[in-house]
Amino acid sequence: MPAVVLLGSQWGDEGKGKITDLIANDFDYVVRYQGGNNAGHTVIHGDKKLALHAIPSGIMYPEVIPVIGNGCVVDPKVLVGEMDMLREEGFSTERLLISNNAHVIMPYHCDLDGASERRLGNNLIGTTKRGIGPCYQDKAARIGIRMQDLLDEHIFRKKLEAALQEKNDILTKIYSLQPYTVDQICEEYLPFAEVIKSHIVDTSHILNEALGSSKSILFEGAQGTLLDLDHGTYPFVTSSSCTAGGATIGSGIGPTKIDRVLGITKAYVTRVGSGPFPTELSDEIGKTLTTVGGEYGVTTGRVRRCGWYDAVIAKYAVEVNGLTDIALTKLDVLGALDTIKVCIAYEYEGEVYKTLPTSQTVLHHAKPIYQEFPGWKCDISHCRSFFDLPHEAKDYVDFLEELAGVPISIIAVGPDRDQTIMRHWPSF
Ligand code: GDP
Ligand code: IMO
Ligand code: MG
Repeated sequence: MPAVVLLGSQWGDEGKGKITDLIANDFDYVVRYQGGNNAGHTVIHGDKKLALHAIPSGIMYPEVIPVIGNGCVVDPKVLVGEMDMLREEGFSTERLLISNNAHVIMPYHCDLDGASERRLGNNLIGTTKRGIGPCYQDKAARIGIRMQDLLDEHIFRKKLEAALQEKNDILTKIYSLQPYTVDQICEEYLPFAEVIKSHIVDTSHILNEALGSSKSILFEGAQGTLLDLDHGTYPFVTSSSCTAGGATIGSGIGPTKIDRVLGITKAYVTRVGSGPFPTELSDEIGKTLTTVGGEYGVTTGRVRRCGWYDAVIAKYAVEVNGLTDIALTKLDVLGALDTIKVCIAYEYEGEVYKTLPTSQTVLHHAKPIYQEFPGWKCDISHCRSFFDLPHEAKDYVDFLEELAGVPISIIAVGPDRDQTIMRHWPSF
């Protein structure tokens, strides 16, 4: 009864969608446990390229049951739109389960997300403006509205009325924005509730029963380790627990149930939005990575910041997530470069840091210490075995594996499902 957590080891967009799609067929359930439609996971399934924001990437397999767990925040409009899109593409959404306890993203959350970013000016986080932070804020303040509330108009109206008393004051008096009425939101949201009500269930109980009857579960993380609210580069983070521990909280299964944790790790690093990024490249090499790697945000279309592989954050991701395996993605992209660098430590004011500095100020100013490797300067996207790779690529992978201290069990050499080298990853 394997339960496997798959998550991002860096700042998101590591290729979680591709690897989820690659291994999902081995599992009975694929579960999103945190985040919302700030995520953008690309899945190339046959001749179809899909961008999924709210729904787990396992949905394309007819035998897999996709689950949106209690730790997620759900924008019903986006969810229903994504269900429609999937049906139009020929995929059934009948099996989708949504936790009764997942929180609902309301229109005022999106307004407040945009308004607080404008107020931050140059210090902005660079959020996706999907209302994620304000929705989790309400959850923590215990004034959030949950999926189960959508099922009872009376309760929904009562909770909305209470929430709007405060939200309308903030919208109008602090941000000079338009207020909302209960009727206005009900008119928009209740028809969505009608569409999704049959999917809303106690997913925690269902998942525990499933594990009890030898079913297998894949937890699909969103965002990445360094965007985790507790363990990331705060305040330049998202508002949920993207690390492995989040999988238990965000789904309602116990930590003893998790067997393996697979860290999806890009062969270089990207970041969207603000915040420290020691290995960032603002030169031609950075531009090459953007172009060759197609590094444009799936959710917002923003150009992703690109930089060299950072072994300090990789080691950190191994530690805070208890990674048992790594899937190294986009190795093919590095084939465009003459030389490749790996950051093995940072330097700041004469001191060398081999682990993440305790002070974020140090991380902001840290200078990477690099080890340089010759590039392989060829297309490796056809390689299907580790031994097919040029020796320079094998040396690079071996070096990253040695630094991380856990096996690189999967290597992705292209966006398609079959552009993958399976090394030590088992079939379940
Ligand atoms: P996610 O958010 O972690 O699922 O990642 P995104 O979908 O936002 O971004 C990853 C991008 O890289 C997508 O366009 C994928 O199709 C693409 N991709 C994934 N793995 C590989 C790979 O090994 N090589 C190349 N060239 N592209 C890849
Ligand atoms: P996937 O799942 C990359 C970033 C935003 C911003 C910060 C906070 O596709 O890897 P938020 O809207 O969550 O409050 O924004 O987090 N961010 C992501 N960056 N990939 C993502 O998701 C992201 N989701 C949020 O750019 O810096
Ligand atoms: Mg993404």
